[in-house]
Amino acid sequence: MSDHSTNSEIAAPSAEDVVLTADNLVVEFRSGHRTVHAVSGVSFAVRRGETLGLVGESGCGKSTTGRALVQVQAPTSGRVVYQGQDLGQLSRRKLRQVRTKIQMIFQDPISSLNPRRRVRDIVAEPLTIWRRGTKKERAAQVREMLEAVGIDPDAAGDRRPQEFSGGQCQRISIARALMADPDLLICDEPVSALDVSVQAQILNLLADLKEKFGLTMVFIAHDLAVVKNVSDRVAVMYLGKLVEVAGSDDLYRAAAHPYTEALLASIPEPDPDHATDHKALSGELPSPLNPPSGCRFRTRCPYAQALCAEQEPPLRDIAPGHQVACHFPLVGGSVGDSAAATPLEASGVRPSPDPVPVEIDV
Ligand SMILES: Nc1ncnc2c1ncn2[C@@H]1O[C@H](COP(=O)(O)OP(=O)(O)OP(=O)(O)O)[C@@H](O)[C@H]1O
Ligand code: SF4
Ligand SMILES: [Mg+2]
Repeated sequence: MSDHSTNSEIAAPSAEDVVLTADNLVVEFRSGHRTVHAVSGVSFAVRRGETLGLVGESGCGKSTTGRALVQVQAPTSGRVVYQGQDLGQLSRRKLRQVRTKIQMIFQDPISSLNPRRRVRDIVAEPLTIWRRGTKKERAAQVREMLEAVGIDPDAAGDRRPQEFSGGQCQRISIARALMADPDLLICDEPVSALDVSVQAQILNLLADLKEKFGLTMVFIAHDLAVVKNVSDRVAVMYLGKLVEVAGSDDLYRAAAHPYTEALLASIPEPDPDHATDHKALSGELPSPLNPPSGCRFRTRCPYAQALCAEQEPPLRDIAPGHQVACHFPLVGGSVGDSAAATPLEASGVRPSPDPVPVEIDV
């Protein structure tokens, strides 16, 4: 087992109203005689009413983290605490009850809906399972919820999922999740399987419903541009670890981790006058069967030094609400922020090929 001790230091915001905490979450899978280190000591707190984005490239452990949060995937170690309750310690019955409060929306809405059931029965499922209300009350609630997600209950109620488009199926999935009366929605790539033309509609719908139902959200995606637009804070994940956590604007303006910088470089910049000198990502994600020693990003990091192979950088505060796991965090953030750039930076050249170490509180 690898050392998970150092990447787990995001302090839960003490004065904040925290809904859910992941505490040193580890998820490992056996693969023959080997171990897949999918999630390796991830900690974060989700504050009431916020949208926390979780971003990273394919295979970095986002879905596994999301599944561990709802305990669909039992963590190998670590805790998930929801409203003060350690989910791993609950009886099966109690866990089933608590799980209704944490609902997940998946990438592929069509396969997550039972093709044999009618839409009104699918959406009513949480009410029927928990025997909430009379038949008439349930029918009225289903009607109201379908309307809330933009589906006409009269036209759609008796039809089955395959008669709908991906976007409509995602609306139905969202309606079903909300029928359970959740506090927290975990959205795992909810728009990446949809046509670009409907992605914005679903994102806007989620934002409206969040407001209407007073939800808290964890929004998982591989696209930092999408995550940034919908999130209050963003946690960046690389090969099973969190590497940077910051307010959405701070992250965009002043990314401190070279991996975040590389993700930002992959976002097309429509205005050439604001082009940045962010270093693009190269190479492949290493195998989670055998993650690199020290900093897991070191094999692709343009700033790696000897220390990076020897010691794992802990996640530490570099500014209020901004944490980074890097021995040599970048300073100045986006060079697109010309006010902060030196003349050399403004010319598009980094002042030094070496990263600039920053004083950090341990
Ligand atoms: N049940 C499993 N058994 C073995 N390995 C698994 C299992 N589930 C996930 N993995 C591995 O764990 C790692 C993380 O997978 P995960 O699906 O969490 O990544 P992800 O960030 O959600 O990727 P994507 O963006 O492609 O959805 C991957 O290497 C994946 O192959
Ligand atoms: S500078 Fe070192 S610690 Fe920081 S991301 Fe690069 S390899 Fe990792
Ligand atoms: Mg995934």
